[in-house]
Amino acid sequence: MSKLTMDKLVALCKNRGIIFPGSEIYGGFANTWDFGPVGVELKNNVKKAWWKRFVQEDNSCYGVDAAILMNPRVWEASGHIQSFGDPKMDCKNCKTRHRADTIIENFSKGTVSAEGMTNEEMEKYIAEHDIKCPNCGKRDWTSIRKFNPMFITSRGTLEEDADKVYLRPETCQGEYVNFLNVQRTMRAKIPFAIAQIGKSFRNEITPGNFLFRTIEFEQMELQMFCKEEDSMNIYNNYKEKALKFVKDLNVKEENLRFHDHDKLAHYAKAACDIQYNFPIGWQELNGIHHRSTWDLSRHQEYSGKNLQYTDPFTNEKYTPNVIEYSIGADRLTLLLLCEAYDEQQLEDGETRVVMHFHPAIAPYKVAVMPLIKKLHGEKAEEILTILNKEFMTQYDESGSIGKRYRRQDEIGTPYCVTIDDDTINNGTVTIRDRDTMQQITLKVEELVEYIKEKIKFI
Ligand code: GAP
Repeated sequence: MSKLTMDKLVALCKNRGIIFPGSEIYGGFANTWDFGPVGVELKNNVKKAWWKRFVQEDNSCYGVDAAILMNPRVWEASGHIQSFGDPKMDCKNCKTRHRADTIIENFSKGTVSAEGMTNEEMEKYIAEHDIKCPNCGKRDWTSIRKFNPMFITSRGTLEEDADKVYLRPETCQGEYVNFLNVQRTMRAKIPFAIAQIGKSFRNEITPGNFLFRTIEFEQMELQMFCKEEDSMNIYNNYKEKALKFVKDLNVKEENLRFHDHDKLAHYAKAACDIQYNFPIGWQELNGIHHRSTWDLSRHQEYSGKNLQYTDPFTNEKYTPNVIEYSIGADRLTLLLLCEAYDEQQLEDGETRVVMHFHPAIAPYKVAVMPLIKKLHGEKAEEILTILNKEFMTQYDESGSIGKRYRRQDEIGTPYCVTIDDDTINNGTVTIRDRDTMQQITLKVEELVEYIKEKIKFI
């Protein structure tokens, strides 16, 4: 197989109705993408698989769907507003963001204060002293900008009345602010988790690489509230669970690795990413963070509400520790597109592009194809109405069967059902497997159960 590049993937996604450039007829809008009819199924299936594994199959995890627009005090508590106006620059090589003044002060071991320096003066100092990225060791900085990490909108009717509100840059704050609501209404006992899936918005300085880093994206986040003495065990369990989840979606182990962080935020006890070997190199897929009592303590301080938990057996009152597991739905979708992509040389000399998605996340589960439209079309439509009550089903009656198979391979449809004379005479169909290209014969009434069994995500 020739090497997969992002450009190749972008082209396939556009041509096959998976993902289109955002606002394309207006010349686009950088780093926004629209999911097409095939892509929306793919991403919905990714979200469903995550929800099934982490919410449905875990009775101690409760889902929420919190508002995107939150009381601005939330962003004071989270620390986002304090960082407005900090002089920031990004490392173009490893895409990490740094405060330019801190970089200078750390480099000079506190002998130089960057307070009062202009951006130009800081850039000059960094260049003259050849200061490298503390994360990757390269010197490839963006220019310094006073950066506002959040998109701002307003809620007033007249501009002069407008109160600033922010599009959330992460979904987890909706989980923290509902800690007590969920705990009380669900009579939840610690350890328990709150999860949600939703849109986040970030004014990224260096977005790019297709879905990898965009300014609007979906996150799947989960906060596990626990006692301090159990917290490291829970953290380690989530590392393993998060890795198993991706492997169970047919991602090869050799393309995944843990990256434990050496440098931690002052409140954090441990932090780790799972990285994937994307076409752009090893990059973060998701994060698992031990955040101690930081988030609930901050919200307690800023809201003035008591967010302590009372142990129902001992009456002990305490602020729970939080283990966070956070993964981008779009980034995981990108990973699954990269992992699924394959170019195969066939015996007849042709090449087929095939997406080997796990059947549970494949956008369409089955395609119905009448061998000859005139003779088998009516029967095929009958079978289509049986299948599309159960599954996302494609119907394709144009072109040779070979061409129709190729079209389905390119969007990863795991099964193709051909309707021919045998269907009309004996009530049987042939069903072709995307990966092996083998065909078997089934009775029409066996089809639904056969496919249901094959597309399970366990
Ligand atoms: N609440 C913690 C948090 O938001 P993060 O590392 O900033 O942590 C978590 O984001 C995950 O969200 C990342 O691992 C990535 O999968 C996804 N993500 C973050 N920024 C993104 C962006 N600009 N575009 C796409 N996905 C992004």
